[in-house]
Amino acid sequence: MIDLRSDTLTRPTEAMRAAMANAEVGDDVYGEDPTVARLEERVAAMFGHEAALFVPTGSMGNVLAVRSLVAPGQEVLCESRAHIARAELGAHGAYSGITMRTWIDPRGQVDLPTIRSLFAPDMGPFFVPTAAISVENTHNFAGGAVLPIGDLRDLREFATGVGARIHLDGARIWNAHVATGTPFEEYGAIADVLSVCLSKGLGAPVGSVLVGSSAAVAEARVWRKRMGGGMRQVGILAAAGLHALDHHVERLADDHAHARLLAEACGVDPASVDTNIVVVDRSDAADFVAAARAEGVAVATVGPTAVRMVTHLDVSRDDADKAAAVLARL
Ligand SMILES: Cc1ncc(COP(=O)(O)O)c(C=O)c1O
Repeated sequence: MIDLRSDTLTRPTEAMRAAMANAEVGDDVYGEDPTVARLEERVAAMFGHEAALFVPTGSMGNVLAVRSLVAPGQEVLCESRAHIARAELGAHGAYSGITMRTWIDPRGQVDLPTIRSLFAPDMGPFFVPTAAISVENTHNFAGGAVLPIGDLRDLREFATGVGARIHLDGARIWNAHVATGTPFEEYGAIADVLSVCLSKGLGAPVGSVLVGSSAAVAEARVWRKRMGGGMRQVGILAAAGLHALDHHVERLADDHAHARLLAEACGVDPASVDTNIVVVDRSDAADFVAAARAEGVAVATVGPTAVRMVTHLDVSRDDADKAAAVLARL
């Protein structure tokens, strides 16, 4: 089976497993795991922020990041198909007591005029105040679309002007960096708090990193423990993340090229595919998925008429060619 359902399906390489096996460890709840500390310091520096926190999942990273900016009873604005709105099972409401309002953009982009019109200043006991704006780069359900740095800078300027803060869901910020050449620090500069994932295209088995000010990270550390996310000799997992940062960032360009091959096979303009995700609109989505599976290609529905395919570390050029031939025939 050529598995294109998600870039979370990658298995650790032999070299990554060796790095994990040899990791120096300590009890991270006591702040004594040197490998975790190295990962946190490295990722914080990459994005030009003071501090970082290793967390088990992107969802936990997002929940802790957003709650560091938005208090109970306040709201965050985001695009309607943002992962935080659509795929975290209501965690931000359930755990953090915050609400969301959304703008709609087919490519998940920053729509500044609409964001301006949605923004609610604190007007006392009448309206929910907007504390933060969240953006997702790349945007998963918008087909891995990149948010251009110029638009993010404009959003930063607006947010600073009205006193709102910015959360960046950077689960796939590595893909945005490779696709555009934008330095990580420039992405870091537009956000107050980011969450970045090691377990998507980078191929680590587990792990995300929350990045922000020392104060935000100290508070997130308390909430991580409160939510049951305090982990012990977890340098074994941080070592996988460090290995991924050393070896699996620049190769994402291959995944992007493979995604364009798949797009072409499915009648999607390859120029519209920014990174490693292709979403195809098909009224027969479920049947299409079943037919592809019967021919050895696993793809997934992400809506009643949306089929998603994602390229990753475990999909070679040969696999991409074979999958493209099957998909084109179907
Ligand atoms: C954009 C985005 N953010 C956050 C997450 C959550 O990551 P996790 O599955 O590790 O909770 C995902 C997962 O696919 C994602 O695509």
